[in-house]
Amino acid sequence: MTPSLYKTKLMACVGMLLLSISCQEETTVNPENNEPTPYSLAIPTGFPKSYLSKENPLTIEGIQLGKMLYSDPILSSNGRSCSSCHLKENSFSLPIFNSWSGTKISVPPHVNLAFRNKFNWTGSEHNLDTLAMGDFEPEFFNTKPDELYKKLSEHSVYPSLFKKAFGINKIEEVPYHQLKKTIAMALAQHIRTMISANSKFDKFKRRELSLNQMEHEGYVIFFSEKGDCFHCHSDPLFSDQEFHNTGLNISYNGSDKGLFNLTQRQEDMGKFLSPTLRNIEFTAPYMHDGRFSNLEQVIDHYNEGVSDDKHVDPLLNKRNGTRKLNLTPIQKQQLIAFLKALSDWDYIK
Ligand code: HEC
Ligand code: HEC
Repeated sequence: MTPSLYKTKLMACVGMLLLSISCQEETTVNPENNEPTPYSLAIPTGFPKSYLSKENPLTIEGIQLGKMLYSDPILSSNGRSCSSCHLKENSFSLPIFNSWSGTKISVPPHVNLAFRNKFNWTGSEHNLDTLAMGDFEPEFFNTKPDELYKKLSEHSVYPSLFKKAFGINKIEEVPYHQLKKTIAMALAQHIRTMISANSKFDKFKRRELSLNQMEHEGYVIFFSEKGDCFHCHSDPLFSDQEFHNTGLNISYNGSDKGLFNLTQRQEDMGKFLSPTLRNIEFTAPYMHDGRFSNLEQVIDHYNEGVSDDKHVDPLLNKRNGTRKLNLTPIQKQQLIAFLKALSDWDYIK
């Protein structure tokens, strides 16, 4: 417990003493008690308000537990951990995940998720605290509950961390749904601390260095009508947290219909949540289905490949009356140089 919390409790007791006779339990405050230690998230300058959770406040012990579980195959019965699909060197993403339904999904990175309340390519999840509960399913971890209880409760560290972080005395007595929820909450706490704000571009904004000429030209293209990327990939998250159809397809067959699959509304056909472009250099291949293997192909798409489909976002209709940007080869390179200035190398170390 932190000194300030200690003081608050003592004062509460004094107050209660005036009102009633006793405050037995509270007066036995001792710094060794089991309250987890509150943790205050350092928000980078210029970042929006974070979506922290009242039900699951950040604590040092909760974050520590989540961090350990994140890369521990103990949660699965198939040897996988979160970090098998969210690899650090790829900014906690994975090139491609082949889902059971046969679709290829590019695994989104874990970057600045504390500032978002929509998750997955179609925003199908809104609550980070419960998101990881789905990972125990056969397609991901194939977790056998008996094994999980046994491994966790016999572990040398986890029982005391569950106790300190969530007041759980005996892991084996917690109902399975509740256990999964507690694990998901610990993971969410850890993920909320995964903040990336130390790219070359961030340093440029803090006036610690300047961009080179290529990067600077790319920066101007990105943030002006010339490239017009900023509407959907807005600073500082480099995502507007909205859904857009970027004209990847001309027609929609099979299950690859984006937000439409959730809403069944025609206007949502082919729409996906704008992904962050932070650390984009580390997360190839690109787009929800990983169809582009490098940034050159992505830029070529925006430059001359946007389809004529009626569902395409109006933001991609250009002043020249087409959906083409008409960037020159050198301008394309400049834009890519700027995208690479969004890489936070400290983050993947
Ligand atoms: C087998 C691979 C795999 C494993 C293991 C896995 N994930 Fe994921 N994760 C994915 C895929 C694929 C998506 C994207 C799903 C989609 O968009 O439909 C995803 C999405 C997410 C997201 C949303 C990210 C965003 O930007 O919207 C979070 C958070 C997440 N995973 C956390 C976890 C945690 C925590 C674990 C461990 C409990 C985990 N994942 C284990 C494949 C995996
Ligand atoms: C109308 C909104 C919109 C505009 C304008 C836009 N984007 Fe995107 N961008 C998106 C969406 C949505 C996706 C994901 C599409 C998908 O996977 O189906 C995306 C994907 C990307 C990706 C791949 C990200 C990943 O993780 O796979 C890159 C790179 C990218 N955009 C760069 C740019 C650049 C550079 C520009 C300007 C030339 C730009 N975008 C303009 C909405 C937009």
